Amino acid sequence: MRKTQPLPLLLSLLVSLLCLYPSQGYTLNCGSSDHSSTLEVMHIYSPCSPFRPKKALSWEQTILDMAAKDEARLLFLSNLAVGRRSMVPIASGRQIIQSPTYIVRANFGTPAQPMFVAMDTSSDVAWVPCTGCVGCSSSVFNTAKSTTYKPVGCSAPQCKQVPNPTCGGAACSFNLTYGSATIAATVTQDTLALAQDPVPNYSFGCIKAAAGNPVPPQGLLGLGRGPMSLLSQTKSLYQSTFSYCLPDFRSTNFSGSLRLGPVSQPQRIKFTPLLTNPRRSSLYYVNMIGISVGRRQVTIPQSALGFNPTTGAGTVFDSGTVFTRLVQPAYIAVRDEFRRRVKAGPVSALGGFDTCYSQQVVSPKITFHFTGMNVTMPPENFLIHSTAGSITCLAMAGSPDNVNSVLNVIANMQQQNHRVLYDVPNSRLGVAREPCTR
Ligand SMILES: *[C@@H]1O[C@H](CO)[C@@H](O)[C@H](O)[C@H]1NC(C)=O
Ligand SMILES: *[C@@H]1O[C@H](CO)[C@@H](O)[C@H](O)[C@H]1NC(C)=O
Ligand SMILES: *[C@@H]1O[C@H](CO)[C@@H](O)[C@H](O)[C@H]1NC(C)=O
Ligand SMILES: *[C@@H]1O[C@H](CO)[C@@H](O)[C@H](O)[C@H]1NC(C)=O
Repeated sequence: MRKTQPLPLLLSLLVSLLCLYPSQGYTLNCGSSDHSSTLEVMHIYSPCSPFRPKKALSWEQTILDMAAKDEARLLFLSNLAVGRRSMVPIASGRQIIQSPTYIVRANFGTPAQPMFVAMDTSSDVAWVPCTGCVGCSSSVFNTAKSTTYKPVGCSAPQCKQVPNPTCGGAACSFNLTYGSATIAATVTQDTLALAQDPVPNYSFGCIKAAAGNPVPPQGLLGLGRGPMSLLSQTKSLYQSTFSYCLPDFRSTNFSGSLRLGPVSQPQRIKFTPLLTNPRRSSLYYVNMIGISVGRRQVTIPQSALGFNPTTGAGTVFDSGTVFTRLVQPAYIAVRDEFRRRVKAGPVSALGGFDTCYSQQVVSPKITFHFTGMNVTMPPENFLIHSTAGSITCLAMAGSPDNVNSVLNVIANMQQQNHRVLYDVPNSRLGVAREPCTR
């Protein structure tokens, strides 16, 4: 009896070692592989991400965590879509408390200081925590070490785009609050270099103080279409065109890419027109006209899909939401057809997901139909499995009750392993299957 005891102990030790070092077994290259106008895109939980949880979260915890953060994201997007007056073009308190999903490296200042920033297609502004920031965690941009850094004055047009600017000295500053979180920032300009292209005099927010919980550990790169966005500030360099391939968050050694500018974008790609909501120009609206589960197009009332700039209703592509949200009648139609097809025993709920099975399932494909473009996704884009394979959930949900639910959001899990091309000059968005590997 006694002699058998060390074996389970050894086994559990081995297991915990394997869990501690998930990168064993293949070489991990965490150095920057950015080149010309292409940046490496990492999931926030990837082994190379400095922001991944110190202690590995369980599968359920990871999913519930991401789904909970989506709630705040949805609230932010819905407020943007309906044009609440509390939302300002440059930065909102709401987006500041959100956790990013995908990050890239950006170089601020001269000489370049590398900083991680979250990619956000539904925001315009860029911001980073700066020197002397009270309450910021992790690394900050050291403004004193940059020879090209300069604060933006109160009379500058950029100062008009921030909420309630105050002018201490000559600098343009502003405060943001959300619940218990408060952030104080100044509007600044410095060289921003993405991959190898430097952009002089880039306007962004420099965070000077942050209080409350949670405080963002990294910066933000707004890829929206508004006046302060990367697209607007780099129009001559990148011609308002970019694409990304988002790696699967379950695959530890995969990374994706953010490709800036019209050069080397895919030729074989299907497009759908981009729609503009004049009141919320930063959101990437498209016209979704139907959804199929397997070959069957489910019945969805037109009001659940139609674009309406007055109410903000319609469908957007977003890089910051994890799980696709559909307005209730659309979600219910998709879910009911999915359940009818899958028939894998009793349906249970997990967190915000209402269609889970306690076994592996054989799933039909799901197709989003847009004007001129069908996107058919394999099950890995909409099924989540527990590590042990004992639970499978449909990774989509109806819009939460607490938000004005007019918006369908095509989220990042559903975009993984696809190249999504934002071609603003030609007012179109393209999608093509592509494995997002290093
Ligand atoms: C903004 O925040 C800073 C730092 O927390 C504080 O000192 C300042 O009084 C605030 N300004 C306004 C106008 O609230
Ligand atoms: C950047 O700003 C500096 C100082 O304000 C100015 O001299 C320079 O011409 C600007 N560069 C560009 C490319 O706008
Ligand atoms: C990691 O990459 C290697 C080599 O490209 C591949 O063989 C392996 O399956 C990958 N592992 C995962 C978990 O994706
Ligand atoms: C999309 O799929 C629908 C239904 O299968 C089909 O009728 C339509 O022609 C397809 N559109 C494109 C652009 O492929």
